[in-house]
Amino acid sequence: MLLLAVVCVLCLWSPATLAGGVGSVPNCMPRKTVSLKSNGGHSFRMDGVFNYTTMLVREDLNLLILGAREAIFALDLANITFKKAMLKWQVTDEQKDECVNKGKDATNQCKNYIRILHKKDNGTMYACGTKAFNPTCDYLSWADGQLVLKDKQEDGKGKCPFDPFQGYTSALVDGVLYSATSINFRGSELAMTRSSDEILRTDVTANWLSEPNFIHMAHIPESEDNPEGDDDKIYIFFTEAAVEYDSYSKVDVSRVARVCKGDLGGQRTLQKKWTSFLKARLECSVPNTKLPYLVQDAFHLCPGNWRTCVFYVVFNPQSDSSQSSAVCAYGIEDIKAVFSKGKFKVPVKVETSFVKWLVYPSDLPDPRPGACIDDYARSKGISRSLELPDKTLQFIKDNHLMDQEVKPLGMRPLLVRTGPAFTRIVVATTTDLNGDSHHVMFIGTKSGSVLKAVNYDGEMVIMEEIQLFESSQPIKILRLSNSTQQLYAGSDAGVVQVSVSQCGRYHTCLDCVLARDPYCGWNLDTDRCSTINTSHRDSSVIQSVKEGNASRCQQLDYSKPVNITFLLGNTMKLWCQPYSNLAQVEWHVNGQSIKASETFQILSDGLMILNASTDDTGHYTCDSIETVLHQKYKTRHVEYDLKLWAGTGTTASLHDVQGKHNTFIAMVIWVEDVELVALDDFGWRVHFSSQGHFDAELGFECKLKSKTANMWFVIFICENNMETLTCDLHLSPGQMESLHVFIHISDFSGITVTSVI
Ligand SMILES: *[C@@H]1O[C@H](CO)[C@@H](O)[C@H](O)[C@H]1NC(C)=O
Ligand SMILES: *[C@@H]1O[C@H](CO)[C@@H](O)[C@H](O)[C@H]1NC(C)=O
Ligand SMILES: *[C@@H]1O[C@H](CO)[C@@H](O)[C@H](O)[C@H]1NC(C)=O
Ligand SMILES: *[C@@H]1O[C@H](CO)[C@@H](O)[C@H](O)[C@H]1NC(C)=O
Ligand SMILES: *[C@@H]1O[C@H](CO)[C@@H](O)[C@H](O)[C@H]1NC(C)=O
Ligand SMILES: *[C@@H]1O[C@H](CO)[C@@H](O)[C@H](O)[C@H]1NC(C)=O
Ligand SMILES: *[C@@H]1O[C@H](CO)[C@@H](O)[C@H](O)[C@H]1NC(C)=O
Ligand SMILES: *[C@@H]1O[C@H](CO)[C@@H](O)[C@H](O)[C@H]1NC(C)=O
Repeated sequence: MLLLAVVCVLCLWSPATLAGGVGSVPNCMPRKTVSLKSNGGHSFRMDGVFNYTTMLVREDLNLLILGAREAIFALDLANITFKKAMLKWQVTDEQKDECVNKGKDATNQCKNYIRILHKKDNGTMYACGTKAFNPTCDYLSWADGQLVLKDKQEDGKGKCPFDPFQGYTSALVDGVLYSATSINFRGSELAMTRSSDEILRTDVTANWLSEPNFIHMAHIPESEDNPEGDDDKIYIFFTEAAVEYDSYSKVDVSRVARVCKGDLGGQRTLQKKWTSFLKARLECSVPNTKLPYLVQDAFHLCPGNWRTCVFYVVFNPQSDSSQSSAVCAYGIEDIKAVFSKGKFKVPVKVETSFVKWLVYPSDLPDPRPGACIDDYARSKGISRSLELPDKTLQFIKDNHLMDQEVKPLGMRPLLVRTGPAFTRIVVATTTDLNGDSHHVMFIGTKSGSVLKAVNYDGEMVIMEEIQLFESSQPIKILRLSNSTQQLYAGSDAGVVQVSVSQCGRYHTCLDCVLARDPYCGWNLDTDRCSTINTSHRDSSVIQSVKEGNASRCQQLDYSKPVNITFLLGNTMKLWCQPYSNLAQVEWHVNGQSIKASETFQILSDGLMILNASTDDTGHYTCDSIETVLHQKYKTRHVEYDLKLWAGTGTTASLHDVQGKHNTFIAMVIWVEDVELVALDDFGWRVHFSSQGHFDAELGFECKLKSKTANMWFVIFICENNMETLTCDLHLSPGQMESLHVFIHISDFSGITVTSVI
């Protein structure tokens, strides 16, 4: 089978499609896999600097402000490789000593990790760093091409974590910082704080927050155009230890909580504490899993007004028993309804010491606890939270948990996938050729890749998995820029920028249309897959995102067969790589279908013929068949004509020369002329193997070559000193008779190579 590296446990579909309608083939597998080499991105890293995990996109300045460990960078938003400025923000020796004396580790913990970067209304920025367990904030400005720190050294306690490994989140709303993190050195007290003149905070009792890990914060301007005269809200996503379950072991749950922007705390009860802190469980249930999934990251998209806001949230399992990650989406109206209409869940003492969490059975005090100051409160003469009656405040002082959980849109996850865990998510909007708008998700993974996916009416389509970092580097931050249409990803090792669409990666009309990428369409005039021009809809462009209907694509007339001559006993690889991981490959020889056997191995990128014999001569064809919504599209990729070499020669195994130290091994690599267009650009990878005795990989620049009768003759002369193979490249079509080695050779473009004579 094809690249089944990632197994899709289930894909979720709308009820209609589940009932056997369209789209019953789950395609949680990314249609294309884009390697690190070919991701086409720009990257940035600086020697000695790590943890590139905080970003602020400044479209107004055309800059990406990047926070790392002990440094802040200003990078060109269009090309992040271009560093415009750098600012070192380091800990002093005294701070470091103090941190070390308190038992922290000097090389990792006692550094300044930039954790907060926000833009103030007047254009200056607010930055905070952990500063060796001494969180500090400052004003950062961009002037005359330089980053400048004001050196105000504000106390960052409650804004920025002490411990760089501890969770945190923050938002700047109307110039005021809302943050959620630890407020003490030990990291044992965690709170959501507003750092205005009237500081407000959650209480540090388990009723409010119980060992929380803060993930995401969002300001939703709900006061705009609001018939109830309601206030803006600040939502916060986090996980915490569940209090409401009867469980002996600790279970974590995902939560969404919110406060009102205009909250001023209570007068006597809840002085300097939120009077509007309400929380609810976030449900994202994955079938066949027991423990709740835990929120990892969230992104909110509000395409029109605030009523259209959707939170896209990624979840991971809390135990290792399941390997699948999920994405759930939540509508703001659903979240709002739970908080404004739902019942409370409260602890009730059932026996002397045993507590059960039950629905609060009685009538709630009036005004409703946790409600913002709205028209109803004002009609009762309450214009500020300070004026709330004590009954309401007494209730909300102890009770914050809603009984009802917040359910995802469609009542189920948008996407569940087994494989590397999801870490981050951002979502872009784009308009297709029909003028319909789509939400395109970019999901970062623990293995340094990003998935690009769209949900079309319940059908999940993962267009690409793009490798941005080495697979050991989890994606730790993702940001989008609308003005540059670029995605920025950060890891501990560096930053990479890629375009949200790279239509050029779709090679043919079928490939382009079946990709169902809302950014791309096949242009019949230029015969290329190109970015949809939203201002000018061209009828000569083919795009079919929802149906994946490629019937308007012209079938390609394939090129003439590739001629290959082989020797008895040769191992050959006939290259054929379909454009899509979802396509099935069919090989035929002389019209007969090829099945895997002792002679034939069907690989994801070709057909391997082992120990070739006279029976293996003939006409080979490779077709790929891609099925989209029950429609099959077949493409002939390549044809080969295999003939037996008429000359004479012998093959010997490398095993035979293994014992001969410091001898020269010469090999002739004999390659068909076809598919070699880019030969000059590709190094050659020569793989030596002989029953595991001898194994080496070398890179060659294949500069010398000669062309005779459609074939290249290349000779590598290799010195075999058993440890390393040093190879000189010689070229001589005439030296064929001097060679005695059997070698299996392949190169990056899958060129068929036969062995040596
Ligand atoms: C910072 O990066 C280094 C190097 O990759 C890593 O070992 C360390 O865990 C990172 N620190 C944090 C706080 O993520
Ligand atoms: C991006 O910036 C780097 C560093 O300034 C430069 O070398 C490179 O050519 C730029 N790339 C493009 C495509 O502009
Ligand atoms: C922007 O506001 C900050 C305080 O909020 C102040 O320190 C800074 O001087 C202001 N900058 C400008 C350019 O007005
Ligand atoms: C994105 O940019 C386009 C033009 O470049 C603009 O029309 C659109 O409103 C922007 N969208 C957002 C969400 O800013
Ligand atoms: C879109 O098409 C219009 C009209 O042909 C053209 O002026 C404009 O440059 C195009 N935009 C892009 C991004 O290609
Ligand atoms: C695909 O589109 C063609 C017209 O472009 C139409 O005739 C055909 O019915 C469509 N096929 C499906 C399966 O929708
Ligand atoms: C393969 O060989 C045949 C003759 O045997 C020739 O007509 C054809 O052009 C060759 N194909 C290629 C791709 O060179
Ligand atoms: C290769 O095939 C020949 C007969 O076609 C057989 O005699 C020989 O043992 C085979 N070699 C291997 C290594 O299987």
